[in-house]
Amino acid sequence: MDSKILMTVFLSFVPVLLLLSSTEAHVEYGAYNKTCPRAEQVVYEEMANILATSPDLAGALLRLHYVDCFVRGCEASILLNSTADNKAEKDAELNKDVRGYEVIDRIKAKLDEACPGIVSCADIIALAARDSIRLSNGPNIPIGTGRRDGNGSSASDVPLNLPSASANITLLLSLFAKYNLTAKDLVVLSGAHTIGKAHCYSFSDRLYNYNGNGSSDPRLDANYQTVLKQQCAPNDMTRLVGLDANNATAFDLGYYSGLSQKKGLLTSDVALLDDATTNAYVLLQANNTSTDQFFADFAMSLMSMGKIGALTHGKGEIRKQCSVLNPAPPPSPPPSPKSASPEMRSAFSSVLSASVVLSYFFIQFY
Ligand code: HEM
Ligand SMILES: *[C@@H]1O[C@H](CO)[C@@H](O)[C@H](O)[C@H]1NC(C)=O
Ligand SMILES: *[C@@H]1O[C@H](CO)[C@@H](O)[C@H](O)[C@H]1NC(C)=O
Ligand SMILES: *[C@@H]1O[C@H](CO)[C@@H](O)[C@H](O)[C@H]1NC(C)=O
Ligand SMILES: *[C@@H]1O[C@H](CO)[C@@H](O)[C@H](O)[C@H]1NC(C)=O
Ligand SMILES: *[C@@H]1O[C@H](CO)[C@@H](O)[C@H](O)[C@H]1NC(C)=O
Ligand SMILES: *[C@@H]1O[C@H](CO)[C@@H](O)[C@H](O)[C@H]1NC(C)=O
Ligand SMILES: *[C@@H]1O[C@H](CO)[C@@H](O)[C@H](O)[C@H]1NC(C)=O
Ligand SMILES: *[C@@H]1O[C@H](CO)[C@@H](O)[C@H](O)[C@H]1NC(C)=O
Ligand SMILES: *[C@@H]1O[C@H](CO)[C@@H](O)[C@H](O)[C@H]1NC(C)=O
Repeated sequence: MDSKILMTVFLSFVPVLLLLSSTEAHVEYGAYNKTCPRAEQVVYEEMANILATSPDLAGALLRLHYVDCFVRGCEASILLNSTADNKAEKDAELNKDVRGYEVIDRIKAKLDEACPGIVSCADIIALAARDSIRLSNGPNIPIGTGRRDGNGSSASDVPLNLPSASANITLLLSLFAKYNLTAKDLVVLSGAHTIGKAHCYSFSDRLYNYNGNGSSDPRLDANYQTVLKQQCAPNDMTRLVGLDANNATAFDLGYYSGLSQKKGLLTSDVALLDDATTNAYVLLQANNTSTDQFFADFAMSLMSMGKIGALTHGKGEIRKQCSVLNPAPPPSPPPSPKSASPEMRSAFSSVLSASVVLSYFFIQFY
C-alpha cells in the first residue's frame, strides 16, 4: 500500500482524536474559554469589590473550597440548603462557622448577566478561593475549571470526612490520604491558615481546660497564651482571632514561623509538628526569606485538592441557584443515538489509537 495514502488516512484521524480527547472528563484550564470567556475576569472583579469592603471574607472563601472538596468532592454540596426531609452539609455542627455563602450568590448573579447558566457553582467556589489568595498578597494560581454541580448534600457525611480543630496527626494524615493527598499536601494546604480567623471556642480548651482539669496546653507560648486569654474569655461564643499570629491578612510564611514558635492556634495546626515530613516542612519555611517554594507547592496541592470528586461533562448539572437543586427534568425519552456515552467515546478512541499505531507500522514496512 502507498505510504502517502496511509499518511493521509492517519492525518485525517488526528482532528477526530483531538476532538474526542477534549470531551474526556477532566478539570482543565480555561474550560469557559469559548462558552463564557470573561468568566474568570468577572469572578475576580467581584471578589476584588467584595474584599475591598469586607477583607475578612478572604479566609472564609478559601475555607469554603476546602470544606466543599472534602465532602463528596468539589461539586458545591456545601452550598445546598437543608430541606424538610434532608439536613445538608452546611447545617452540620463542624460547618457551623463556614461563611461566605452570600458572596457566591453575588458572583453567580454577575456571571448570569455575562453568560446565563454556564458557570457551575463548584467552579465559582474554586475561582473565589483562588482569588482570595491573590487578593491577600499571595500567588495568582492558575486553576482548572469545568466542574459541574452535584445532586445532594448530607450533614452526616461531614464528620466522616472533615477533621475537627482538635484532630491529631494520625487522623489528619488518614483523612487526607483518603483523597490521595500526601503528608506534604497536608502541611502545604494547612498553610491556608496563614489567612483567616477562628472562633475562641475552636481553641479555648488549649487556654483553660487542656487536660480536662483546668490547665493549659504546654505547646502554647506563654506570652501568646496571655494575649489569647485577654481576647477570649472562657465561654466566649463570638470573638474571632487570626489563625496566623504574625499577620492573618497576608498570604505569607507567617503561619509556619508561628508554628515553629509555639504560636500555632489550633490543636490541628500544632499536630503538624508530630510527623517527620510535616515537621521538616514547617521548619524549612519558618525562617525562609523567599515565598517562592511555598507558593509553588501551594499551587500544586490546591490543584490536587480541586480535582477531588469533580463532576465533569456528562455528570452533574449547572445549578440555577447555588443553594437549591434544579427541578427534576421531565421523564427523558430513550437515549438518542447521536450523543455517544463516555464509555462509547473511550472505546471509539481506543480503536482509533490502535489504527493509528497500525498505520505507523505499515508506513515503516512499505
Ligand atoms: C488540616 C485540617 C484542617 C482543620 C482541622 C481545619 C480547621 C479549621 C478551623 C477549626 C477553623 C476555624 C473555624 C472557626 O472557628 O470559625 C478553620 C478556618 C480556616 N480554614 Fe481550616 N482546617 C483545615 C484545613 C484547611 C485547608 C486545607 C484549608 C484551605 C486550603 C483551610 C482554610 C481555612 C481558612 C482560610 C480558615 C479561616 C476561615 C475564616 O476566616 O472564616 N483549612 N479551619
Ligand atoms: C483557554 O485559553 C488558555 C489561554 O489561551 C489556554 O491556555 C487553555 O488551554 C485554553 N483552554 C481550553 C479548554 O481551550
Ligand atoms: C438558602 O438558605 C439561606 C439561608 O437560610 C437563604 O437566605 C436562601 O434564600 C436560601 N436559598 C433559597 C434558594 O431558598
Ligand atoms: C488520634 O485521634 C484518633 C481519633 O480521635 C484516636 O482514635 C487516636 O487514638 C488518636 N491517636 C493518638 C496517637 O493520640
Ligand atoms: C487514589 O489513587 C489510587 C491509586 O492510584 C486510585 O485507585 C484511586 O481512585 C485514587 N483515589 C482518589 C480519591 O483519587
Ligand atoms: C492536669 O493534668 C495534667 C496531665 O495529666 C497534669 O500534668 C497537670 O499537672 C494537671 N493540672 C492540674 C492543675 O491539676
Ligand atoms: C499584614 O500584611 C499586609 C499585606 O502585606 C500589610 O498591608 C499589613 O500592614 C500587615 N499587617 C501587619 C499587622 O503587619
Ligand atoms: C529561626 O530564626 C530564629 C532567630 O534566628 C531562631 O531562633 C530559630 O531557631 C529559627 N527557626 C528555625 C525553624 O530555623
Ligand atoms: C528556603 O526555601 C528554599 C526553597 O525555596 C530552601 O532551599 C532553603 O533551604 C530555605 N532556606 C532556609 C533558610 O530555610
Ligand atoms: C447523583 O449524581 C451521581 C453522580 O453523578 C449519580 O451517580 C447519581 O445517579 C445521581 N443521583 C440522582 C438521584 O440523580
